[in-house]
Amino acid sequence: MSATTALLVLVCLTATTRADHHQPCHTHNMTGLMSVMTLKGEMKAFGAFTYDSVGRKLRFKSNESHPTNASLDLDLLMFFEEGIFYEIDSRNQSCEKKKLQMSLHPFDIPDDAKLHSTVTTGSSSIEGEGMKVSIWTGPLTPMKGSYSMSVTMGCLPVTTFYFTDTTSFLFSNMDVELKVKDPDVLVVPSFCHGKPVEDTPEGTVNSFLNEFM
Ligand SMILES: *[C@@H]1O[C@H](CO)[C@@H](O)[C@H](O)[C@H]1NC(C)=O
Ligand SMILES: *[C@@H]1O[C@H](CO)[C@@H](O)[C@H](O)[C@H]1NC(C)=O
Ligand SMILES: *[C@@H]1O[C@H](CO)[C@@H](O)[C@H](O)[C@H]1NC(C)=O
Ligand SMILES: *[C@@H]1O[C@H](CO)[C@@H](O)[C@H](O)[C@H]1NC(C)=O
Repeated sequence: MSATTALLVLVCLTATTRADHHQPCHTHNMTGLMSVMTLKGEMKAFGAFTYDSVGRKLRFKSNESHPTNASLDLDLLMFFEEGIFYEIDSRNQSCEKKKLQMSLHPFDIPDDAKLHSTVTTGSSSIEGEGMKVSIWTGPLTPMKGSYSMSVTMGCLPVTTFYFTDTTSFLFSNMDVELKVKDPDVLVVPSFCHGKPVEDTPEGTVNSFLNEFM
């Protein structure tokens, strides 16, 4: 009897401790669309992404059918576990391999993020007219700035704001499916094999965010 009580108390304590620490959840495998805008209203990129949440690999390719004046032509293959990424140009089959100085990206919550709040956008009382999200925040180390990320209850990142001294960005994810539809896009193209890692100039930060600056 007392052993059962002790076990119950232990289970309850564990549950409370977990809730108090608000550990960020981790995202699923995803395929979807992403848009990037500055808060001055410039569309920086729109295109398809694939994210492998187990291997922490990402591919993002901007879609040239959606050009605007500020939009960037990007094709990125990022390996967050290894801390390296490739900038790919499939037209002339060239690629640059670089080291990541900041591993943040808008597809998963950083482990050290702090839970800011949980809110329902739209309506919480009308079925299908609201979405409950938790908002996670943290610093943009080693840059000056911060981020704020909204994530659904099922752990799908919806929007992420990045605020820096000079500019701010809004990343939005759309039409997400919970799988890696084409695993081949997460494989390093043959023309990138054997590339040396480029030197990072003093003071440069390479990250997913910096690719849009
Ligand atoms: C996620 O995708 C990777 C690469 O395609 C695959 O190896 C892994 O098993 C997938 N994980 C889940 C949970 O589906
Ligand atoms: C680019 O966008 C167009 C129009 O929305 C779509 O038909 C096409 O499949 C997209 N291409 C890629 C590579 O995502
Ligand atoms: C893009 O720039 C051109 C000239 O620089 C301007 O005429 C045009 O209106 C701009 N388009 C948009 C969508 O801002
Ligand atoms: C490939 O094209 C890009 C611009 O589209 C250029 O910056 C790059 O230097 C080219 N690389 C090679 C190896 O020609």
